[in-house]
Amino acid sequence: MIPLEINGQTHQVEVSADTPLLWVLRDVLGLTGTKFGCGIAQCGACTVHVDGQAVRSCLLPAGAIKGRKITTIEAVGATPAGAKVQKAWLDLEVIQCGYCQSGQIMSAAALLASTPHPDDSDIDAAMAGNICRCGTYVRIRAAIKKAAGAA
Ligand code: FES
Ligand code: FES
Repeated sequence: MIPLEINGQTHQVEVSADTPLLWVLRDVLGLTGTKFGCGIAQCGACTVHVDGQAVRSCLLPAGAIKGRKITTIEAVGATPAGAKVQKAWLDLEVIQCGYCQSGQIMSAAALLASTPHPDDSDIDAAMAGNICRCGTYVRIRAAIKKAAGAA
């Protein structure tokens, strides 16, 4: 049993220590908002927060994050930065197919929590690992600026 604190609740999960967090979230806990894209930490679809940092859950072993605070897309709206990001995403209708967007929102929320007024280079650095096949990058950038109160 591995104790994991996810979205403010402690779950005892029966998985091997090397099971990636993404599989725990989706298959064990039914938190399917976090998406599987590449499985090799290259696309960002599986992004969650660990102690407020955006991390790729597809390669993160469950055994390595005991006692850390994990937040997923299901609960990020309860954080101040997450709420602003989600509102801006809706206001600017960022989403196209939606598949990458949980990860995009998680990366954007982590950025705004640490850097409330990011410039373009901050946004580039924070969002570079999140791929969008639908090419919503222009709206993502605009929404981050809107959430930051800059647009
Ligand atoms: S599924 Fe984790 S980065 Fe692509
Ligand atoms: S909205 Fe379709 S992949 Fe990003």
